[in-house]
Amino acid sequence: MEKKGALLLALLLMASYVAYATDPTQLQDFCVGVNNPVDGVFVNGLFCKNPIQATPDDFLFKGLNIPRNTDNKQGSNVTLVNAANLPGLNTLGIALARIDFAPYGLNPPHTHPRATEVQTVLEGTLYVGFVTSNLPNGKNQLFSAVLYPGDVFIFPQGLIHFQFNIGKTPAVVLVSFSSQNPGVLTIANAVFGPTPPISIDVLTKAFQVDKNVIQYLEAQFSSGNNY
Ligand SMILES: *[C@@H]1O[C@H](CO)[C@@H](O)[C@H](O)[C@H]1NC(C)=O
Repeated sequence: MEKKGALLLALLLMASYVAYATDPTQLQDFCVGVNNPVDGVFVNGLFCKNPIQATPDDFLFKGLNIPRNTDNKQGSNVTLVNAANLPGLNTLGIALARIDFAPYGLNPPHTHPRATEVQTVLEGTLYVGFVTSNLPNGKNQLFSAVLYPGDVFIFPQGLIHFQFNIGKTPAVVLVSFSSQNPGVLTIANAVFGPTPPISIDVLTKAFQVDKNVIQYLEAQFSSGNNY
């Protein structure tokens, strides 16, 4: 009996060892290898403060209760709290944000390449949704919902999603990310506003429209014009 217990324990330990033997997650889009680190060393994340010098302030962020200015084209404002402004989060694999919405304000379709997002509505009424990756039948499915205060909704890692305030009053949500650096790729900006632009031949064929439609869209999203 004791032997069996010991065997079980050994097996459990092996299983947990396997579970932890994964590569660390990315903290950036890519990490091109260099032969000579002197020429171009770049740290994936941040350096760690000597733990003896850490203070409670390293783990404290203030002011997330303050409404942000939503006077921009989309009528929304994302206040990200991550290791850049809350240093104690470094290496812990999480981050959060407050998002303010003007009446009918939109957080336009975007993805977080490195994080799942959990959203809690604090104020307002929002129409939110995400789209699946390509299904075997070639289609993409929309999962959407209308949310009220207290409602929680999940945007799985990497999937395109959006949040739209359908109310006549401002809306506020709190979101959490499963990465200290989730990254954000806003679809319209990424497709119609990168530097340098994507060839118009690629875009006309991809979207099956005339050149002038693409040029019109590009004019809306030329670099730095995202809000
Ligand atoms: C978000 O709000 C802050 C503070 O209210 C403001 O400084 C910033 O410019 C706003 N950002 C956008 C994109 O409107």
